[in-house]
This record gives sequence, structure tokens and C-alpha cells, in this order.
Amino acid sequence: MCGIAGYIGPMQAESVLLVALERLKYRGYDSAGMAILDSHEILIRKSEGRLRQLEEQLSMRPVLGHCGIAHTRWATHGAPTTINAHPHTCARGNIAVVHNGIIENHEVLRSRLQAAGAIFQSQTDTEVIPNLLAQVYTGDPLAAIQAIISELQGSFAFAAVFEDHPDHIFVARQGSPLLVGRGEGQMLLASDIPALLPHAHEYLQLEDGQLAVLTRGQVRICSFSGAVIEPAFKTIEMNVESVSKGDYDSFMAKEIAEQPEVLQRILESRLRGDTLTDPDLGIDLRGINHVVFLAAGTSWHAALLGKRFLESLARIHVEVDISSEYRYRNPVASGGTLVVAISQSGETADTLASLRLAKSKFIPVVSLVNVMDSTIARESDGVMPLLAGPEIGVASTKAYTAQVFALYAFALHLARVKGRIDGEQMRRHLDGMRPIPELVAHSLALAEDRVLAAAELFTPANATVFLGRGGEFPTALEGALKLKEISYVHAMGYAGGEFKHGPIALVTPSLPVVCICPRDAMYEKMISNIEEVRARQGRIIAVGDADDDTLAGIADICFPVLRSEDELLQPLLSILPLQRYAYHVARGRNCDVDQPRNLAKSVTVE
Ligand code: M6R
Repeated sequence: MCGIAGYIGPMQAESVLLVALERLKYRGYDSAGMAILDSHEILIRKSEGRLRQLEEQLSMRPVLGHCGIAHTRWATHGAPTTINAHPHTCARGNIAVVHNGIIENHEVLRSRLQAAGAIFQSQTDTEVIPNLLAQVYTGDPLAAIQAIISELQGSFAFAAVFEDHPDHIFVARQGSPLLVGRGEGQMLLASDIPALLPHAHEYLQLEDGQLAVLTRGQVRICSFSGAVIEPAFKTIEMNVESVSKGDYDSFMAKEIAEQPEVLQRILESRLRGDTLTDPDLGIDLRGINHVVFLAAGTSWHAALLGKRFLESLARIHVEVDISSEYRYRNPVASGGTLVVAISQSGETADTLASLRLAKSKFIPVVSLVNVMDSTIARESDGVMPLLAGPEIGVASTKAYTAQVFALYAFALHLARVKGRIDGEQMRRHLDGMRPIPELVAHSLALAEDRVLAAAELFTPANATVFLGRGGEFPTALEGALKLKEISYVHAMGYAGGEFKHGPIALVTPSLPVVCICPRDAMYEKMISNIEEVRARQGRIIAVGDADDDTLAGIADICFPVLRSEDELLQPLLSILPLQRYAYHVARGRNCDVDQPRNLAKSVTVE
């Protein structure tokens, strides 16, 4: 979490860095700040709260200069106050640092520095870095960084500027992402590619254990111990439009609307005529008889559907684990196991740690990621690209449906490799996949008035329960997560059959219960769930077939969904009205749907 950025070039650094922070604020938005070098001193502006508060400060007290570093924060150590906002400096103010990650041994370092006379301003772990640098600095910034770097434990990416080196930015990476961008006579740095646009045309990913020195047209890279490394830049393929809201009022609204085109892209990448193409994984899957999915949050919900797909289609034993649990267990590694790490960002710290644990046990790891240059992608033995395009809204929407669709294609691939389906069955499944993008497009346009009406009716409710069975149990979990993360309404998803084992005690006339009830194998059971809620005067929002009059007759409001020919793929359609419902409830409660409180898009700390 946290985003860092830097600029050195012909433009005013302040304006370039504000755009970069705007693009990075999905990583954290508790406070923001920047340090700009003019020829004499380091000028710092920072503010708690949203980026606009920093912008207001800068409009009253602009900072001029062509070189600077900036930060947007997701608080870990110390409250989200202005004092704790980055950049942090040493007492003399001649060294400023922005940092992403956690310095785990900061307390030990702080006590030692304080004993030597250092005075700290903030409660952050970061402040030890400029103070350590100040202690050893004799005019050579790179030498100072090399001298202190081995003292820092934990994961970090930091950028530092030194008052007496006004045309240089120094950066280091150990465990947190850091990219260097190159444009005409200008260099940039950022935690993610969108923040390098539009000024950089090329980028390189700094590796763990590397330092870099940025000047106007150049970057020098070396290892922590000083070995020179040749920079290898790649072209930036992303464009500015893909990271802008366009005509939408939020990234979430844009990303919900993009789902048909994302699913179409996945289809086109995997289908050649009547054939499913092989993903280029570099792993022989024939001996795989056990798959472990590792993921967090929404990606974990997608993994639950991945389990259904693999078990139904490939008849393979599948486990789904929450990354933060797996990493602290001692999982049994047996031959024939494949780990599949699922992560939109490719940077989720728990998923990365569990991937590393699996690799340490010699289990092959494949990842399904949206950010192809991410750490998880780079550390996996094989990578499946998600192809969802940049997802910026904190609430995952298009990445979820993309994950589900991609996992279905993966299950079909494994089923074929294992000889579990024949050509005819494969053709039928591919025929089931083909109409999905269009069905999603039509579903998104369906009954907006009812979704809005339900959102209006239930906006005051302070809790909501979601029920689903079979493939719609993950939909219930995902629908509940969407609602709670952006509208702050307490929401829980339950398997329909579990409801009577406790949660049904919650039902009152003011509790909305969302029942996901397409006419599938679980339909009758879900109708019983609805009747149980009705008998206790609970309010029903049903998600079901457009022509299901029975359902319409027993629900307070019904969100109609179209039907997928292949029942396994139905959750791709059932989730759509729940994304829109969450969006409208959040808007009705005046919540910021793209930047919900306390959250960040990529969770790079434990
Ligand atoms: O980038 P990842 O897919 O690894 O992220 C995992 C979760 O942090 C993420 O899905 C989170 O739950 C979303 N905010 C949900 O909308």
C-alpha cells in the first residue's frame, strides 16, 4: 500500500507529481505530500486527508522546481495525520524520503538514533530512513544509502532527495514495487505504470536489492553492494484513456460497464474457431492431481468458483485457501500438486508470501494476475494474464468476472490435458462460453430502475444478508463484500443451507435479505430459504430469472438476470445486479465508491 512517485525533467515537478498521485491514490489516500528541490533547499508540502487537500495547499503555496518526490499514504504506523504524512526528513531538513512498505525493525533503529541525539517528529517507521542517512552522510548520497540499507528489515521501496544534489533522485527497492520511467529528457519513478503516464514512454521494474540514481535523461542502477546493472527498458503499452474515468462518474461505474469487452477479450485470447488454445504456462499439467488456489478478498471468491469448475470439469481435487492463512500453516506438499495464485494486482503481500512458501516446498506455482509485470507474476513458474485492463476502483468488479471466466477456461484446459472431456463435450462448453459477453452486456442494461428502487428503499438499512447455494454461494459472498466495502453497511454472505444454523436469528422486518435464486439445481432449496425469511417478516431482494413469476410473487423486489446455457457460468450474470446495487447504495449514502475509507487497492502489507 502507499504510492510513491518522482519526477526530474523540464516540467514543473509539482504538476507532474499531482497527476501521478491522482493515479496512485488507489493505493492509499489517508494523506499525501511532496518534496520539491529548488537550487537551495527542499520544499515540503503535505496534508492529511484526500489529495484535494494537498492540491488546495499547493494552490495557496505553490512549489517551483523540476525535481521532486511524492507520496500517497495508507497508514500503517501512526495515525493518518499531517505530521505522519510523507515526505519525512532528518532534523536538518536536508534529506527527504518517501517510502512504501514497512521497516519492521524501526523501533530498534529509532531508539538507537534517539540515543545518538536524533529528534523524531512522527510516529512512522519511515522517519528512521532519513535519520539513518543523516548519520552517515558526508556528501555522497549513494554511499550513504549503501551504508544504511542492510540495517533496514522488512519490505520497502523508497525515494530520497538530498538538498546538495538538486538534480538527482535516489531510489531503493526491497520487496515493494518500484518502476523507473523514461521520457524525452525526463525520468520518473512510481509504484505503478499509470503514474508514469503520459511523460514516460518506457519503463523498467527495479528488482529487489537494487538502487537507482535518476538524473534528467538517465538512470544508473546498481545492486545494494554496488555492482553495476545495465538498465533494460520496455515500451509502455498502456494509454492514458485506460486509466481515466472518461464520461463516468467513478472508476467503479466505468469498470462495471467494461465487463462485456473484458470477457470478449478473454474469449478471443482463448478461442481459435472451435478450439481452446493452450495457455503458455511452461508446466506439464498431465501429472497434476491436486490444485490449491491461493487468494484474498474478491480473488478468493473467484477461487471458490474455480474449485467448482475444476472439480466438475477436470475431476481434480481442489483446495481453496485464504493466502493469509496458508502462509502461516505448514501445508503438506505432495507430488502432483499445483498452486494457483489469483491476484488482480499481483502485489498482495499475503498471496505473495504464500506463493513463496509453496515454492520453498517445490510445489509448482501458476498465477492468474491482471498486472503482468507484478511481483507475483514474476515469481510464478507460469502466468495466466487476466486481460481485464487497469482496474482502479478499490472495489473489484471487472477483475472478478474476468477471473471467473479465465478460471473456467483453465478448468477446461486441465480437463482436456487430463483426458476428462472429449471433443464433443469441449465443443459444448465452448458454446456455453461464447454468448457470455453479450449476455453480460444485456444484463447490465436490465432493470436499472429496480436496482435503483431497491437501493433507495434499503439505503437506511444498517445490515444486509446475502444467501446463495452452489455456484451462487460465492456470489453471495462477493455481493456482501461489495456492499460493505463501499457503503459501510454491515453485510454477510452465507450458504443458504447454513442460514438456519445461526444467522437466521438476525431476521427482522427491517433486514434486507438478498437471495440469489436462478432456476438452477438449487432453486427449490433457495425458495425454501426465501419462505423461511418471509415467515419471519424479513425483506427479500431476489436475483433470479426474468420470467420467474413465482420468485417475483414472493420477493419484495426482484433483480432479473439472463440465463447462461452452461449453469456453471451463471454466477457471472448473477453478480452483475449486486455490483450495481452496492454502487447505488453507496452513492445514496454519499460514500466515495472509488476510495472507500480504510482501504487501498493493492494490499502490499500484512
Ligand atoms: O489484488 P488482489 O486480487 O490480490 O487483491 C485481493 C483483495 O485485496 C481484493 O480483492 C479486495 O478484496 C477488493 N477490494 C475487493 O473488492
